[in-house]
Amino acid sequence: MNSTLITNCGELLTNDPALGDGSLVGRLNDAAFVIEDGLVAWLGPSSAAPACDEILNLEGRAVVPGFVDSHTHLVFAGERSDEFEARMAGLPYDGGGIRRTVEATRAASREELTRVTLERLAALRRGGVTTVEIKSGYALDVSGEARLIDIASAITEEVTFLGAHVVPQEYLTDREAYLHLVTGPMMDACAGAKWVDVFCDRGAFSVDEARVVLAAGRAAGKGLRLHGNQLGEKGGVALAVEMDCASVDHCTFVSDDDVERLANSSTVATLLPGAEFSTKSPYPSARRLLDAGVSVAIATDCNPGTSYVTSMSFVIALAVREMGMTFDEALWSATLGGARALRRSDIGSLKVGSRGQYVVLDAPRAAHLAYRPGSDLVHFASPMVAPSR
Ligand code: NIG
Ligand code: FE
Repeated sequence: MNSTLITNCGELLTNDPALGDGSLVGRLNDAAFVIEDGLVAWLGPSSAAPACDEILNLEGRAVVPGFVDSHTHLVFAGERSDEFEARMAGLPYDGGGIRRTVEATRAASREELTRVTLERLAALRRGGVTTVEIKSGYALDVSGEARLIDIASAITEEVTFLGAHVVPQEYLTDREAYLHLVTGPMMDACAGAKWVDVFCDRGAFSVDEARVVLAAGRAAGKGLRLHGNQLGEKGGVALAVEMDCASVDHCTFVSDDDVERLANSSTVATLLPGAEFSTKSPYPSARRLLDAGVSVAIATDCNPGTSYVTSMSFVIALAVREMGMTFDEALWSATLGGARALRRSDIGSLKVGSRGQYVVLDAPRAAHLAYRPGSDLVHFASPMVAPSR
């Protein structure tokens, strides 16, 4: 048994409302906590801390649970800054650029893809991410998708098969054949993935097509996720709820009926404000979802098209500034909300028995994450837990 006392935290956000001041984030001041063999074993006032093998004195710094980035497309080659510039000048986003990244990704060697993925991972970690979800979706052929799943599986357990990202160029005249490929040989070759996702929107897959993909995922024993309502109200949210997806992601355009559906479901609404930022789209109102009782997560959506973002604190700042969240709500959504979106109960909070993954900030209060956007405030972040395979 190895125990570490982390003491003299100016502020400690636990996400356990039973602790501290009764707030959503379970805020303790002048606090300490103990990690024993990787798990949280004790939390309380610094003055009451038990003896431990090691002591870390944080000298008044704030501590939050490690960020759970529940939506990324980390494995891709190339970049599309020209599209970003065009959008800033007024051109709309229509998803068409995905095929450019598919071309670059297919052409890249495994070594190159692994190298650029690990660079992006390092950036996420520097920003305090301790758990990451990674999707495939930029190869769209059997061996290529399997290669992306393989690269992602070396990094995280939370790997998602997104063969149904768009219909690739060579299948544009036969969508049905592509759906057969995705739900058959491609899904089989990507059996290492834990999740199946589908982009259900204008220019991607219809509700009926997406239902076929999700049903095949369920039959293969996978958890389900859905990209929906990014470009319009296309029925993605309703389908996600119908299929009991763990999460429906984007939710940029949602109807009142969608909000009610989500509130009465166990599907998390994952908001990706980096995508609204980078596509110059209107931000969805997190306030509207939260007030209706919807569980909300926020994530980076790191991808070369709509959100080349690797900073969870930037996402938190956007959520607070543009989507009507309080700081506490945004912090919760970036940690425990992300854990819920991945249907994980061992991460996202700091309470006795949870994984001891935390972030120490170079700030006395965690709200500095939103208050000082663009500042590098992460003093220390727990390492990611390596996948067990
Ligand atoms: O989450 N919307 C679908 N997929 C990505 C964007 C993909 C791209 O443009 O490369 C997203 O926004
Ligand atoms: Fe995405």
